[in-house]
This record gives sequence, C-alpha cells and structure tokens, in this order.
Amino acid sequence: MVFGAILAGGKGSRMGNYTVPKQFLPAGGKPIIVHVIEKFLVHPEIDHIIVGVNPEWQQHMNDLIERYLPNIEKLTVVAGGTDRNSTIAGIITEIRKISGGDDDIVVTHDAVRPFVTLKMISDNIRIAREHGVCDTVIPATDTIVYSENHEYITDVPVRSNTYQGQTPQSFRIKLFEEVYGAMTEEELKIVTDACKMFMLKGYPVYLAEGHVSNFKVTYPEDYKMAQVFLGDAIGENDND
Ligand code: CTP
Repeated sequence: MVFGAILAGGKGSRMGNYTVPKQFLPAGGKPIIVHVIEKFLVHPEIDHIIVGVNPEWQQHMNDLIERYLPNIEKLTVVAGGTDRNSTIAGIITEIRKISGGDDDIVVTHDAVRPFVTLKMISDNIRIAREHGVCDTVIPATDTIVYSENHEYITDVPVRSNTYQGQTPQSFRIKLFEEVYGAMTEEELKIVTDACKMFMLKGYPVYLAEGHVSNFKVTYPEDYKMAQVFLGDAIGENDND
C-alpha cells in the first residue's frame, strides 16, 4: 500500500504572531493544510492519508476535516511528536494498524507546502519503490556557502552539485522502522531531517525533481506569496 503522511506537528514559531499555527492559516478560501490534503486525496496511487498534528491542535484539525473534508474514510488524524521525525514515527505506528506489508511506501509531506504537484508525488512513489528512499530537491540557484562557526565561510561547495531540499520525502516503511530504531537518543536530537537519518545509516537517498513553486510557508512573506498564488487580494498596507 502507499500512504500519505502530512506533517503538521509544528507550531510555526518563525511566522511570529498568528493565532493559529501556519498550516491552519487561510489562503484561497481554505486553510493551507486542506489544500495539501486535497492533493493527496486526488492522487490515484495514495491508499490512505494520515495527518500528524500537535496534540493541542488535534480538535481544531478534526473540526476542519468536518467542515472541509467530511466523511472521507481514507483520512486519519494522529498526535504529532516533539520533533519532525517523531511525528513521522507516530504516523508509521498508525499505518501499521492498517497494513504491515514489507513493500508499503510512505510519502511524507510538510503541511505547509500547498503547491506540491501530483507529478512530484508520483515520482516519489516510483523512486521509493525502486531505491527505498527519495528526497525532493531543486538545484541551488544561489551559491551555497557553508559556515561551521556561523562567523566565516568554511566551505563553498561546487554550485552545480548543490540542491535545496523540499518535500515530499518518501521511503519504504520497513526501512524507516529499521533506521529509526537504530538511531541513538543523541543522534535523534541532532538529526531532524528523515533523509539525513537514512544517510547516516548508510542508505543512499535518491533525488526527485521539485520546483521553486513548492516552497514552504516559513515566514510571513511566504504566507503572503501563498495567498497571492491562490488568488487572495492582498492590501497595500496589509502587513499581517
Ligand atoms: N513538523 C511536525 N512535527 C514537529 C515539528 C514540525 O510535523 N514536531 C512539521 C511542521 O508542522 C511543518 C514541517 O514539519 O509542516 C516543516 O517544519 P517547519 O517549517 O520547521 O515547521 P514548524 O516547526 O511549525 O516551524 P518553526 O520551525 O518556525 O517553528
């Protein structure tokens, strides 16, 4: 089976002062997370979708589902974890109540990237089936510089070899269970990215093609851009 995992356990601290976490903010007439769930619902290869939400916002999420996506049997909400990987782990525990297949695939996606395309999801499923682990990326346009001490540059990787990571990130669920189970507590504190976890344990992570439009709503400017893309009118003095 193929599962969609919508990661919505975060609180969006970099967004500043909004009354709800960024995934619940409205854009184009409905909350951002509803746009994301809808993409997964219409994808023909996704059998079931599980949303991992911060426990404080679980009731809010249930209310949104009742309002925007009622009576959809293939949609489940579970409590998210304290970090991104534990949110994924919680979703996978839920998945295992539905299916224990060795070839099951999970397509994980940030609840704050509403412009994911069906092709990105399809490519992720294909690559995860073929290679086990897949990350969605775009070629870096700016030169990426690396600074170990945050004071001066310690490396400038060759630009043509550098990419920016997006989501979906997809993998065979059995591999995630193996790799997550092998992580030490120390490693789990440092490694917040699922693909980095696979790399650390020696699994090659294959690349799928993302797009600049598949940006993550992180700061208020990103939220405005998402609203504009979804057809909302933004006032000149709208600095919210
Ligand atoms: N996420 C999650 N569980 C966590 C933390 C993050 O599912 N414990 C999800 C977020 O909800 C988001 C995605 O991971 O959809 C990308 O993370 P990020 O943009 O960092 O979201 P937040 O943690 O909400 O934002 P911030 O870092 O600004 O607090």
